[in-house]
Amino acid sequence: MSRDLLDLARTVGREAAALVRARRPAGRVGVAATKSTPTDVVTAIDEASEQLIRARILEARPGDGFLGEEGEEIVGTSGVQWIVDPIDGTVNFVYGIPVYAVSIAARTGGGEVALGYVINIATGEEYAALAGEGAWRWDGDERITLQGPPPATIDQMLVATGFSYAADVREQQARAVVRLLPKVRDIRRIGAASLDLVALADGRIDAYVEQGLKPWDLAAGGLIAREAGLVLSGRDGAPDERLVVAAHPDVFEEYFALVRACGF
Ligand code: IPD
Repeated sequence: MSRDLLDLARTVGREAAALVRARRPAGRVGVAATKSTPTDVVTAIDEASEQLIRARILEARPGDGFLGEEGEEIVGTSGVQWIVDPIDGTVNFVYGIPVYAVSIAARTGGGEVALGYVINIATGEEYAALAGEGAWRWDGDERITLQGPPPATIDQMLVATGFSYAADVREQQARAVVRLLPKVRDIRRIGAASLDLVALADGRIDAYVEQGLKPWDLAAGGLIAREAGLVLSGRDGAPDERLVVAAHPDVFEEYFALVRACGF
């Protein structure tokens, strides 16, 4: 079942990525509207990407639920719900910074995410995971198993984070970053949470922390990171909108304590 769902996610994700690449004009992309705050933007291409993904998935599986960043939630009757960000990293996309992704996850009856698929639209790099079956990156048709980064001491860690669109949360995040920066090797703000999480799964960064993520930012990349052997947690256990912390199991407790002490 999950493999069929993953095949569908990959087919649809590739088609959406191709649409976004084809429709992206040179230079900056026009913003169609702002959402929660003036910094939270959406373009007509985000909406077209979501419409395509929603239509293809529901044509193939009419009873499924669907939760996308840009549209109304569909509850569904099959027990499977899709969680989709049609362009994660919209601000990068608007400015032409080639770091934005399609993120597709599916959760089953128990609420657990069963599959995650992320494609970097600009580079075509594809990542996936199935719950209990591991995580991988595709190199052509070959699947390269992901094992996360090696353990590192905190002061040697390259850490990624991101910022909420809400002004009060941004102020708090800025204060936390000021405290964290002197303790680690450096901090990256990649600009797409799904790509932060797959970068962690692929050993390109050492740890991650962010507050304010929505389900479509977290679902696919979170499963890929977890299946690559990383520990993910939040304030009270499972990561959620309030806090996502991810790191190698050997250093997770120390890193978690540090980011909490910094004010995340
Ligand atoms: C955003 C990106 C960003 C993260 C924000 C997200 P969007 O998603 O993932 O890296 O810091 O919290 O909202 O708006 O580009 O889909």
